[in-house]
Amino acid sequence: MKRFEILKKRKLNNNITWLVISAPLVARKAKPGQFIILRTDEFGERIPLTMAGHDEKAGTIDLIYAAVGRTTMLMDRMEEGDCFADIVGPLGKPTHMEGLKKVCVVGGGTGNALAYPIATGMHRHGIKVDMICGFKNKELVILEEEFRKGTDHLYMVTDDGSYGEKAFTTDKLKQLISEGHVYDEIVAVGPPIMMKLVCQLAKEHGIACVASLTAYMIDGTGMCGGCRAIIGGENKFVCVDGPEFDGTLVDWDELIRRNAYYAQQEAHDRAHVCRLTGGVRYHD
Ligand SMILES: Cc1cc2nc3c(=O)[nH]c(=O)nc-3n(C[C@H](O)[C@H](O)[C@H](O)COP(=O)(O)OP(=O)(O)OC[C@H]3O[C@@H](n4cnc5c(N)ncnc54)[C@H](O)[C@@H]3O)c2cc1C
Ligand code: FES
Repeated sequence: MKRFEILKKRKLNNNITWLVISAPLVARKAKPGQFIILRTDEFGERIPLTMAGHDEKAGTIDLIYAAVGRTTMLMDRMEEGDCFADIVGPLGKPTHMEGLKKVCVVGGGTGNALAYPIATGMHRHGIKVDMICGFKNKELVILEEEFRKGTDHLYMVTDDGSYGEKAFTTDKLKQLISEGHVYDEIVAVGPPIMMKLVCQLAKEHGIACVASLTAYMIDGTGMCGGCRAIIGGENKFVCVDGPEFDGTLVDWDELIRRNAYYAQQEAHDRAHVCRLTGGVRYHD
């Protein structure tokens, strides 16, 4: 087993892939809710990815990623036996679980990949977990079987009704609360706009709400300020103070504005044609 070698690669749908990677030192310390920062090669960009799982004995960590841009598309071209240049972690604070009896985890789209270790980790910890998985349509559904095994109740919803119930995650959450389900905490993981609405709903019902933020990151150590978010009027760094925060305190509009800062450069990057290698390296 080589350092940071891809041991298993499994496509979950057209865009989302599950990797099992050898990283014994990271696996030894990993906890649900934490993430790593990796580089594909020595010139690579550093990108953060949540650990979807880890196996201390086998010395492996699991990553589930969506191919959305430059680095994740490069990762799509890596195969079993290939190695990452480096993986740093575990980073961030683990998911808070103490004192919780019953929670509802709400995952939206790719956010379900990040919600997976949180929901199943809480379940293993003895917490009752209702899981709402929301997707735009049937083709994008991932991890259904894994969530069904790893949580108490799974509610699948799609925006267009092509799979599960036709509903947004917030509609389903509203329904469960109005039916009398009592939660100590709601955990929101997905697009910022979904997390904002879930947190508003939780606040209206006086339920604690935690959101897992995915701000831009560079060093992952609290030094560069790249991942700054405003929480309760104070500057916090998602990499060291998070990634999970009290969702009712997050300045969502500021976070959404910051996440759109580099949209133009990223679109340019994705369309980049590499003349050195004589081919298209990345494409939409
Ligand atoms: C703590 C943390 C955990 C994460 N865990 C996962 C995970 O488990 N699985 C996964 O698929 N993704 C995860 N992400 C998001 C992932 O880091 C980005 O998708 C990745 O950096 C994109 O890199 P790229 O070079 O492929 O795309 P880029 O070309 O850099 O960007 C492509 C698109 O992705 C968006 N994007 C880029 N970086 C982020 C970011 N940090 N958060 C949200 N959107 C972003 C851009 O706005 C753009 O629309 C996580 C992010 C953070 C901060
Ligand atoms: S990534 Fe640099 S401060 Fe968080």
